[in-house]
Amino acid sequence: MRAILLLTLINAAGPAIGADTVIQNPAGRAAMTLNGAWHVIPDPYETGYYDYRRMPFDTAPNPGSGFFLDRKPADKSDLVEYDFDSSPTLQVPGDWNSQDDRFFYYEGTIWYRRTFDYTPSSADRRSFVHFGAVNYRADVYLNGQKLGTHIGGFTPFAFEITGKVRATGNSLVVKVDNTRHLDAVPTVNTDWLNYGGITRAVTILETPATFIHDYRIQLAPEATNRIAGQVQLSNAQAGVPVTVTIPELGVKIRTRSDTNGHAVFEAPARHVELWSPQHPRLYSVTLATDRDTTTDRIGFRTIAVRGSDILLNGKPVFLRGISLHEENPLRGGRAWSEDDARLLLGWARELGCNFVRLAHYPHNEHMARVADELGLMLWEEVPVYWTVQWDNPATLANATAQLTDLIARDHNRASVIVWSVANETPVTPARTGFLRTLIDTARTLDPTRLVSAAMEVHADPADNNHRIVDDPLGAYTDLLSFNEYIGWYDGLPDKLQQIRWTFGYRKPVVISEFGAGALQGMHGDRLTRFTEEHQEDLYRQTLTMLQGIPQWRGATPWILVDFRSPRRPLANVQDGWNRKGLIGSNGQKKKAFYVLQDFYGRKALESRAQP
Ligand code: GCU
Repeated sequence: MRAILLLTLINAAGPAIGADTVIQNPAGRAAMTLNGAWHVIPDPYETGYYDYRRMPFDTAPNPGSGFFLDRKPADKSDLVEYDFDSSPTLQVPGDWNSQDDRFFYYEGTIWYRRTFDYTPSSADRRSFVHFGAVNYRADVYLNGQKLGTHIGGFTPFAFEITGKVRATGNSLVVKVDNTRHLDAVPTVNTDWLNYGGITRAVTILETPATFIHDYRIQLAPEATNRIAGQVQLSNAQAGVPVTVTIPELGVKIRTRSDTNGHAVFEAPARHVELWSPQHPRLYSVTLATDRDTTTDRIGFRTIAVRGSDILLNGKPVFLRGISLHEENPLRGGRAWSEDDARLLLGWARELGCNFVRLAHYPHNEHMARVADELGLMLWEEVPVYWTVQWDNPATLANATAQLTDLIARDHNRASVIVWSVANETPVTPARTGFLRTLIDTARTLDPTRLVSAAMEVHADPADNNHRIVDDPLGAYTDLLSFNEYIGWYDGLPDKLQQIRWTFGYRKPVVISEFGAGALQGMHGDRLTRFTEEHQEDLYRQTLTMLQGIPQWRGATPWILVDFRSPRRPLANVQDGWNRKGLIGSNGQKKKAFYVLQDFYGRKALESRAQP
């Protein structure tokens, strides 16, 4: 829907003001960072946004009040009851929860303000303020003027500020609100800490009047010796010369845009080294018009399913995976930087993984780019988690927008092989209809990747050791992926050897979660909960059970490292952490880490031995 909307907007000569947009490869553009200390004002009663009749100030024709005005008293008698300059600061990027104990469990509004000077490199340039992500709702103002609103805590957005930005003394104000709502995505109950804030980088991007807004470039369908793709310009301008250059492949494509500012291309490319975990080959690709240039590093590979096999570059592959949240336990707080990505994905590599499930929401862009480089395949997901409002069209539109933005941001990443539309959602017709719409959206926007969801398993009422995976959604996904907690929420690990499975579809089985809690350093016998021995035993017995499933093609156990969750209060054991990590919140590995590392090591040897 956003893509269609975007196209329509582009036809009106460039993205309309007020509409947020996803600009491809922002890191490849001239930019000025606005990261650093921002002054903040916590506003639990939203006094800076609503008047005492709960009317928003920013809808008034000439608002006289509202923190977004960033006003100073005109004189000693002028009443202004806030002042950013004398207010504390928080670091951007960064969540507020881990920066200040007063905000650890704070949910509500905090106003952020950053002043800056800015002069475009030339008068004919356009400027955008770009956010990597803001959780959850962002109302953005420049020099007292509203730029727009963005909903969704994990996807990038940009607003145009051309003609609004001043050479000096600009005031950028963001009302950040992480309040949870029933009709939101995610909804009110999750098993992760609802970090609030401007959680990813903020930059001023500069572009020519007509610029390369989006592009995608991949192998042509059914071919590994042809490159195909498209470019979308920011303006509906016909006849703009577009070139695509891949020097290492001797590829130079020339084409022109159509009346929509859209150009498609295809060309032979001999000797393409296909991207894979063993050989994560990336090529430098430059896309240019007569006025604009952007360069990216892109890998070329194919991904498909055939029966119960997953085929990477036409060959069966086993997904040696792990799940992880976007959190750096060592520093505390939301992960956002390239270093954070290297820490987390480095641990996954050490575990012997070739696959990572980024749960349960879009992680920052560094994750996919570092995964491209390290050769880790990715599962990316939107936070349709547990029980969202399936019958609410606004909730569906919200989920669709988040999925569309995620695909728009990462569709050039070779590492991304799966789009996941949901996690552990109850089987009802409304739910299945909702998720089918998301699946159709993903397939329309990107027919080249697999689509899945973490589905539900149910027990056979006649036989408690019989598990059945026949979720109706499985008919529409490429993988049969589900979460199972036999041995933790369902009995003890010894139960695992009794379990038999029935699958309603002949598709690759990928276990999207299994696991057990353990406090790092806590030891005891294998039947004692939260000991490393209990977790170790569960991993051993689960891996033994899974090897008995002929369709088994991968897993992303829950989870790489302990993570913060308000649902985990057990004192002296959990203390607000979900302890299912294979690595503790102190960065120390638990015994189960080595069980899985050993298993993956043998699996990797096996796959290397395969022809
Ligand atoms: C669920 C859920 C996770 C959660 C995990 C757990 O399956 O998908 O988000 O953290 O179980 O209970 O630890």
